Amino acid sequence: MRRVPFMLVFSILVSGCGEDNSRKADEAFVMTIPIGLDAGGQYIPQNNPMTVRKIELGRRLFFDARLSLDGTVACATCHNPSLGFADGRAFAIGIYGQEFKRGTPTLINRLFSREQFWDGRSKDLEDQVRNPIENELEMGNTVENMVRTLNQVEEYRIRFRDVFGGEISMENVAMAIAAFERTLVSGNSFYDQYKNGKTDALSESAKRGVALFESDRVNCIKCHLGPNFTDEKYHNNGTGMDKEEPDWGRYEVTKNDSDRGAFKTPTLRDMSRTAPYMHNGSLRTLREVVEYYNKGGIPNRYLSPHMIPLKLTNQEIEDLVNFMKSLSGTNELVF
Ligand code: HEC
Ligand code: HEC
Repeated sequence: MRRVPFMLVFSILVSGCGEDNSRKADEAFVMTIPIGLDAGGQYIPQNNPMTVRKIELGRRLFFDARLSLDGTVACATCHNPSLGFADGRAFAIGIYGQEFKRGTPTLINRLFSREQFWDGRSKDLEDQVRNPIENELEMGNTVENMVRTLNQVEEYRIRFRDVFGGEISMENVAMAIAAFERTLVSGNSFYDQYKNGKTDALSESAKRGVALFESDRVNCIKCHLGPNFTDEKYHNNGTGMDKEEPDWGRYEVTKNDSDRGAFKTPTLRDMSRTAPYMHNGSLRTLREVVEYYNKGGIPNRYLSPHMIPLKLTNQEIEDLVNFMKSLSGTNELVF
């Protein structure tokens, strides 16, 4: 009998169970939506369904510093799971220790948002991924170089082929990371349990805080609306407007004067994990935030008409803070 070299048999076997015929289909992943979040409000683009192996790949990429030019900065460097997927800093620090002009927002509950960034300049999560990779203050890389680097890793070549049936590309990297990001949800907080009928889930103070938050007088829900506490719109609440050259936020995207100094209303979930607050990290505690709103924000020509002095008592300030602390929920890596 002629001896067939082992490698040949092996390669015949491998191509025999070839990618096309018997590649095991990637299983659909169905998110379990925690209490309090709006299962109907999910946004998943049709061309990027959530599947198990895609999400696994996205998670690897999210934690992989090889996406940056010098292999030192991963998405998770700034969006750190143990810091509520933020970084605890006023301004983000990227490659070579450079400071970015804005603070890092949490990544929880992106599943319920379309436009991304403080100024909404990305239309969805897929569109967002390329930005930090190419930004010279964040990961300092080029798409070409990132693809080349990832191509040197056999495991990635195999996984991309498995998930996308094709080569490593910016588009595929973005789809995998976005699918992973959509698994980061936070709900089932004490607040949600309270709203769900468990009346002793909140302290009396936090309960008064809920009522104030929703009241016509304090009216935080004018903007921090719905299950994720955001209207997904842009408002000028005065933050940073006392600077000589303010960050104009949304205006830089739309060039409408009415958008000057407007930033996207952020979610209020998990706030006790993501200090400091606002796009410039100018407020260090939730108490400072409420005190800031209490005085009606920083006056400026473009200030939202909803920003008015609130005349809160010290107890009412405490109550609002305790309510916001009750919004910390399940915030864990499912993958
Ligand atoms: C150097 C720190 C840093 C790194 C690295 C980084 N980010 Fe960010 N991220 C930020 C900052 C700062 C913002 C806000 C920027 C802005 O709005 O202009 C942000 C915003 C975002 C947003 C928008 C969130 C929202 O609520 O609008 C998403 C999504 C995101 N980053 C995902 C990623 C992914 C994915 C990676 C890796 C490919 C990554 N980030 C790498 C700092 C970082
Ligand atoms: C006019 C709309 C509006 C109203 C009313 C409003 N907010 Fe905000 N809120 C925003 C916007 C926009 C930001 C982000 C501003 C920025 O970073 O420049 C924000 C940021 C915050 C933050 C910081 C979140 C973070 O990720 O850094 C907290 C906390 C907060 N608001 C709580 C409240 C409370 C409590 C009230 C009621 C007293 C309130 N807001 C009323 C629009 C509003």
